[in-house]
Amino acid sequence: MKTIFKFKNLSIIESNSQEISKNVAKQFSDLVKIKANCVLGLATGSSPIPIYKEMIKLHQEEKVNYFNVKTYNLDEYIGLQEQDKKQSYYQFMFDNLFNGINIDPNNVNFPNKVKNNIYSEYDEAIKQDGGIDVQLLGLGVNGHIAFNEPGTSNTSLTHLTKITKSTIVANARFFDGEMKRVPKEAITMGIQSILNAKKIILVATGKNKALAISKISLGITDKKWPCTWLLKHKNVEIFVDKEASSLIN
Ligand code: GLP
Repeated sequence: MKTIFKFKNLSIIESNSQEISKNVAKQFSDLVKIKANCVLGLATGSSPIPIYKEMIKLHQEEKVNYFNVKTYNLDEYIGLQEQDKKQSYYQFMFDNLFNGINIDPNNVNFPNKVKNNIYSEYDEAIKQDGGIDVQLLGLGVNGHIAFNEPGTSNTSLTHLTKITKSTIVANARFFDGEMKRVPKEAITMGIQSILNAKKIILVATGKNKALAISKISLGITDKKWPCTWLLKHKNVEIFVDKEASSLIN
């Protein structure tokens, strides 16, 4: 683990995928141990999978108790075809984490499940629960965080959004490579919703994330690269492997 970039309270830390998963899973588990009713912000995609595996392991080995923990997921697809319902982020979370820990299903939250489709109610619910203690993030190839695609306002709260062509191409791998099956819309926490978290941990591995990571390392916010808004936050750790850090000067 070595810190390769620092900007105010944002650090980019380089390691390998296994070390990253262990470190991040330990941070979550340690938090749950000291704050039994903490609020976790969770992400989907391939990057969090090894972290969730490690969290399940720590739950079993160290009896980390999730019963009073609340979770808020970042985003959810809208308009999945019947055959692809298993690709919902709700299903993903049960398959990859929730079924392996003792979380109360009443304590898990998704942004498409708000009253009367008033999506900012999601931000209100998070606030009522005391705010997100740690928010986990993956990174889109185009720099998106959650489904905040390039151009999204940094003051955005939870909202309905269109998924860009480049993200549809990137996510087609979960739909047997068929772009037409990838939903065109999603409900996503906004950039402001994410920045409201007390701490943010972003994980990015692989060469296709290198350009987005390099934009953060310029130290300047850029609407075209949503991930650069993280520079405005007071406590961010970005974990990258060698490939994802390869374009940092
Ligand atoms: C999706 C999700 C993002 C996620 C991104 C990267 O588009 N909406 O929240 O960060 O994919 O996914 P991966 O980790 O599989 O590269």
